[in-house]
Amino acid sequence: MNWESIDEYAKKWIKEAGTMIRSSFDKTLNIQTKSDPNDLVTNIDQETEQFFIEKIRNTFPGHQILGEEGFGDKLTSHEGIVWIIDPIDGTMNFVHQQRNFAISLGVYEQGIGMIGLIYDVVHDELYHAKRGQGAFLNEKKLVNLKEKSVNEAIIALNATWVMENHRIDHNLLIPLARDARGTRSYGSAALELVFVATGRIDAYISLRLAPWDVAAGAVIVEELGGIITNLRGEKLDFVNQDSLLASGPGLHSTILHDYLKDGKW
Ligand code: IPD
Ligand code: CA
Ligand code: CA
Repeated sequence: MNWESIDEYAKKWIKEAGTMIRSSFDKTLNIQTKSDPNDLVTNIDQETEQFFIEKIRNTFPGHQILGEEGFGDKLTSHEGIVWIIDPIDGTMNFVHQQRNFAISLGVYEQGIGMIGLIYDVVHDELYHAKRGQGAFLNEKKLVNLKEKSVNEAIIALNATWVMENHRIDHNLLIPLARDARGTRSYGSAALELVFVATGRIDAYISLRLAPWDVAAGAVIVEELGGIITNLRGEKLDFVNQDSLLASGPGLHSTILHDYLKDGKW
C-alpha cells in the first residue's frame, strides 16, 4: 500500500474541506438536532463528510469509510483500510463560537492507526502523524511527551464527570480534579488530543467518545510516546463507543492506579 500517496491526498482534501468550512462562516447555517436538543448537526457537517466520501470513493474504491454523519459504510470490524472521519469535531463550538473545532481524519489498516490528521481550521494548523515517522504541527516536528505528576498536570475533563452521572462514580474523579494543577474543558475531543500531543494539557479524560472522536488523535498522541486507553486501562477497538484516558506515560499509570483503582470500579 502506498501510504505516502494516501497521506498526500488526505492532507490535500482536509485543507480543501477547511477552506469550504471557513467560507461558510458568513452564510446562514441549517442547524438540526440529533439524539438530544444539545446534540447539534449542521449542513456543513454533512456536506464536509460527503465531500471526503466522494473523494475517497473515487480515488481509493477498495477502502471503507466510517463517518459520524452516517454517509459512509456500516462497519462491524476493521478489515482492510478504513478512513474514520469526524467532519467537524466540536459542532457546538462551531455553531456558537465559530472557533474551537477541528476536522479529524484517521486512516487505519486492520485496526491499526497509520495516519492521523487533525485540522484546526480557524488557526490553519494541521496536526499530522504517520505511524513510525513522528508527529508534526504544520512543518514543526513535535517532541516526545515527558513524565508529569498529577500536581503539575493540567487535565482536561468535562464538568459532567465530576457531577453525579450514570457512567462513573463521580467520587473517583473529584480527587483527581482537586489534586491537578488545573482542569480545562475545550469541547472538542480532537483538539483536546492534540493539546495533549503538544503538552498544552497533560491528560484528557472522557467517559464516552465515538471512534471518529479519537481515531486521528490516537495516532498523533501515540507517535509521541503518549498512551491511549479507556478508563479501565484497555485498548480501544475504534468500532464501539468507549471511555478515554489520553496522556503521557507516567501520568497515565498514576491516574489509572491511584485514582481509577486500575479500572476496578
Ligand atoms: C463532541 C466533542 C465533545 C465531546 C463529545 C463529542 P461532535 O463531538 O468532541 O468535546 O465531549 O462527546 O461528541 O459531536 O462535536 O463531533
Ligand atoms: Ca466528534
Ligand atoms: Ca462531529
